[in-house]
Amino acid sequence: MKPIIILGIESSCDETSAAVIKNRQVLSNLIANQKIHELYGGVVPELASRAHQKNIVPVVEQALSESGMSKEELSAIAFTRGPGLIGSLLVGSSFAKAMSLALNIPLIEVNHIQAHMLAHFIEGNNGIGYKGISQSSFPIPYTSIPSFPLLCLTVSGGHTQILLVKEYLDMHVMGETLDDAAGETYDKAAKIIGLPYPGGPLIDTYAQKGNPNAFKFSEPNIPGLNFSFSGLKTSILYFVRDKTKEDKNFVAKHIADICASIQSIIVKILLNKLIAAAKQTGIKEIAIAGGVSANSGLRKEVIATGECLGWNTYIPPFEYCTDNAAMIAIAGYYKYLKGEFAEQNVAAIARYKF
Ligand code: KG4
Ligand code: ZN
Repeated sequence: MKPIIILGIESSCDETSAAVIKNRQVLSNLIANQKIHELYGGVVPELASRAHQKNIVPVVEQALSESGMSKEELSAIAFTRGPGLIGSLLVGSSFAKAMSLALNIPLIEVNHIQAHMLAHFIEGNNGIGYKGISQSSFPIPYTSIPSFPLLCLTVSGGHTQILLVKEYLDMHVMGETLDDAAGETYDKAAKIIGLPYPGGPLIDTYAQKGNPNAFKFSEPNIPGLNFSFSGLKTSILYFVRDKTKEDKNFVAKHIADICASIQSIIVKILLNKLIAAAKQTGIKEIAIAGGVSANSGLRKEVIATGECLGWNTYIPPFEYCTDNAAMIAIAGYYKYLKGEFAEQNVAAIARYKF
């Protein structure tokens, strides 16, 4: 059978990315990060759209050239329709529409959150994981893909959800955050302690050298499978305010312990709900996805919990945790197989639910 070649385009936030896949195999995956936002301590939507407009042509050209494929060999173009920043989404979606029209090939719209989860189905995905209770080596690299039904904790800068995944494109939200997302909490906590944007990876780095029990922050008490992080954020803000009144160098002196304590509570909140969802459904196929799935504490705890509870755990490789177009392309591949194509009048949606 003729291989399916998909060009994926991702532009939902501050990364302009293009990837080419051949069936489930990634041939290229290019990401242009927008450094400009570091100056402002967060993503500035207007600047993000402008940077996407500058980056999109060179990034797509480079992705095609690295893949060894020509435009004429593409079977379809998949793009992020949402959720995300509307100005950013408009750049990627308009580009994808124009290219599909020019090449006369199908256009496929993709939900960014579904795509984070579907990154687990990329061929040769060298993530790590733990397979059931009979394996002795721990953690083990895995090349096998998860089976259905599957639970996926999707944690990013904009989302915190537990997904019940019944099929590649059939998933529903069992629980989600009522306020801030986990990645947003990391970034806001980082800002409070004076670290630059995006603060998640920096907190993670400091946390690895600190004591997770050094300081206590407030834990939310939300019934069911929903999350809340705004109380935690406020408790970090007041803690830092009070401590720096006593000693203006408090943060600098205790940065590793503060970060380890913040990381510990965020991971605990996430894990408790994931364990509850697994108990409630009896599902033991457990994955994590999204930018925060790059977090060392979360990866370690999910694997350790999986070992105790007999889960098969799926932890993505770092390049497929944060935003990338390979995940958009693999989502496009599954939609292509089902013949789910978009019309030329398809519009980007900032709050795209599935
Ligand atoms: O999935 P993603 O690239 O973009 C969205 O869809 O939002 O996630 C970005 C988020 C940011 O909040 C960033 O701070 C967080 O993921 N992040 C991390 C780590 N790496 C990225 N948070 C904690 N630890 C990390 N190692
Ligand atoms: Zn994302």
